[in-house]
Amino acid sequence: MHPNSDFKNLPKDIAAVLDKIGITSLYPPQQEALNKGVLTDKNFILSMPTASGKTLIAELAMLKILFEKKGKCLYVVPLRALATEKFEEFQDKYSYLGIKIGIASGDFDKVDPAFFQKDILIATSEKVDSLLRQNALSLCSSLACLVLDEIHLIGDEHRGATLEIITTRLLSINPALKVLGLSATIANASSLAKWLNAELLYSSWRPVVLKEGVYYQGEIKFADGSTRNLAQIDISDDIAKLAVDCILDKGQVLVFVTTRKSAQAEARRIAKQIALSLDVQEKRNLNQIAKKLEDTKGETTKLLKQLSECIRCGVSFHHAGLNHLQRKLIEDNFKNNLIKVICATPTLAVGVNLPSRRTIIRGLYRYALGRGMQPVSVLDYKQMSGRAGRPKYDTFGEAILVAKSEQERSDLFCDFIFAEPEPVNSNLGNENTLRFHLLAAIASGFIASISGAISFIKKTFFCHQENNVDMTGLIEGIIEFLEIEEMISKKADKLVPTAFGTRISRLYINPITAVIIRNCLENLQIKLETLSILYLVTIVPDMTNLNLKKSDLELILPFADTYKQEFEFAQVFGADYSTHLARIKTVYLISRWVEEEKEELLCNTFDIGPGDIYRLIDTAEWILYATAQLAELFGRKRIKPLQELITRVRYGVKPELLELVNLKGIGRIRARNLFRRGYKTITDLKSASLTELAKTSNIGKETAQNIKAQLANF
Ligand SMILES: Nc1ncnc2c1ncn2[C@@H]1O[C@H](COP(=O)(O)OP(=O)(O)OP(=O)(O)O)[C@@H](O)[C@H]1O
Ligand SMILES: [Mg+2]
Repeated sequence: MHPNSDFKNLPKDIAAVLDKIGITSLYPPQQEALNKGVLTDKNFILSMPTASGKTLIAELAMLKILFEKKGKCLYVVPLRALATEKFEEFQDKYSYLGIKIGIASGDFDKVDPAFFQKDILIATSEKVDSLLRQNALSLCSSLACLVLDEIHLIGDEHRGATLEIITTRLLSINPALKVLGLSATIANASSLAKWLNAELLYSSWRPVVLKEGVYYQGEIKFADGSTRNLAQIDISDDIAKLAVDCILDKGQVLVFVTTRKSAQAEARRIAKQIALSLDVQEKRNLNQIAKKLEDTKGETTKLLKQLSECIRCGVSFHHAGLNHLQRKLIEDNFKNNLIKVICATPTLAVGVNLPSRRTIIRGLYRYALGRGMQPVSVLDYKQMSGRAGRPKYDTFGEAILVAKSEQERSDLFCDFIFAEPEPVNSNLGNENTLRFHLLAAIASGFIASISGAISFIKKTFFCHQENNVDMTGLIEGIIEFLEIEEMISKKADKLVPTAFGTRISRLYINPITAVIIRNCLENLQIKLETLSILYLVTIVPDMTNLNLKKSDLELILPFADTYKQEFEFAQVFGADYSTHLARIKTVYLISRWVEEEKEELLCNTFDIGPGDIYRLIDTAEWILYATAQLAELFGRKRIKPLQELITRVRYGVKPELLELVNLKGIGRIRARNLFRRGYKTITDLKSASLTELAKTSNIGKETAQNIKAQLANF
């Protein structure tokens, strides 16, 4: 018998694991899940509060399946950051058992065979979708368990439909697949459960008490009726005061704001006050982190300077304008209790475990066109507030909203704290979304007829919610479109994908994007020259262009005028003038990037962060890649300029550096430094001595050795 009596009803091997990973007792909802049969073949929706330990329930179910050698487990998450967190956590906990954990990464149209050798596969819904499009059948056939973390995000306007489609598809292929949906508390969890033929386990229990309250004029009023007067600190700023009050109590603070700009502004505003609470050793450690951060990129930008200044004060901002490495460094050092406060956009709101005893939430009302100020959803509020008080770090948590008047205080209680979370709704009714997924299903041979398409869509959450609404007309219309655009053809009643359709699906692009690219390449025969091609990239719906501001005009208009011939080809697509100028602005930025303009200057000129540049060029590179693939498919000769442009966009370099950036570890800065010292080609590098090479600025001995080691492959 296992020494821990709490686990006596568990299979011995699982109880032993719990013991090994340091779990001394199960939380009541975890115990209830076990009692109700979560380790059997039954499907479950676990609708439970934040921090209630939903992941561990899924872990136990997965362990059971792996111990019984029933097959592999697929753990689907909404964000890459969450995938990394789960990957590291599962690896730490279960590698000793010989269980192999995999995380899917890399480009959409590539499949890494090593991924399928793992036992627990972690991936975002988009990645799973792309694997299904590659016909990665090994994924489905060996799968025994599907965990859908944050399944309530099926209601997310942008990404929910993908989660819904992959779930429907995996279950159609293997109806015996065990499904576990981990959900926040939502109004219609029972509907989700019914759809998945799952038992609903609902709980309102939270291991760590989360006190929700509103701050106004020095006092926090909590929902349970209690109040707290802040320590007598001579600080006028509300957020700084709330933060320092918590830090003095040895707590850490997360501040949620709406925009990246306000995340930065807030962090900078409170930095000096927070710094006063640091001791000498903490300051020393923070200095080191700041230095490390400055080294995360070859170029120092204004944003990075601001960030390191804040970090030296024990504060950080955190948003999508920072790259993954920077964000990870911030999160890790918040977990180490070196950074005391993070001011974040809601990117940090789902799933993550952070030591924020007090979470302060601002900006809960947003402006909606025609409707004035509207509250954000209660579900979103609950996700943000739920980052406070996580069992690993704190014994209680506080979610604090800030009011500017008594009236606002009572509104905040009413609109958020005492409000019930909304139901989630499917987003698959949208024609554009449905087209994207139907083409994929036909292209991968999963659907081969209109009736097949109709019965597939009938299995979705959308149809479940809409009481089996008749989708025939919409589906037929989409199929007709796909046929007219030659993405599929009909042979008798059979739908057969064309090479064009198959390529679109695998490239993971919107069919409309593909139509525009084809029309430009085929009908308009556009020249494969940099500015025209970049303009083409900005026309397609898969691209998100920069916003146009009045102050941009001075910059954009002369550029638009000088190169108007390059953009003329697109007139057939018709666009209003401001859309055209927003496109031009995007083209302008990318064209300056590939001319090696410094990141800092680009950030200043366009009033954006480095993360924005990277996201923009990432998307542009992906669309350019798709363009090259389609050009090849259409038999277009001489696509070399396109291929060169792809590499130039990826690295931000002029053509003369293309050979050098082929080397691993050599980006735009190092390549330029090598070039300046006369190492212009691989041959030049081969004939250089290691010592000479190491003298190049930004290179040093280690990189020089690294370069030398690679040269043999060229
Ligand atoms: N039985 C337990 N004993 C101690 N700690 C536990 C137990 N179960 C879970 N935990 C810890 O509780 C923390 C929160 O768990 P988890 O991340 O699974 O929450 P969650 O329910 O998924 O919340 P969210 O909705 O915010 O994602 C984790 O750090 C986890 O390790
Ligand atoms: Mg979770």
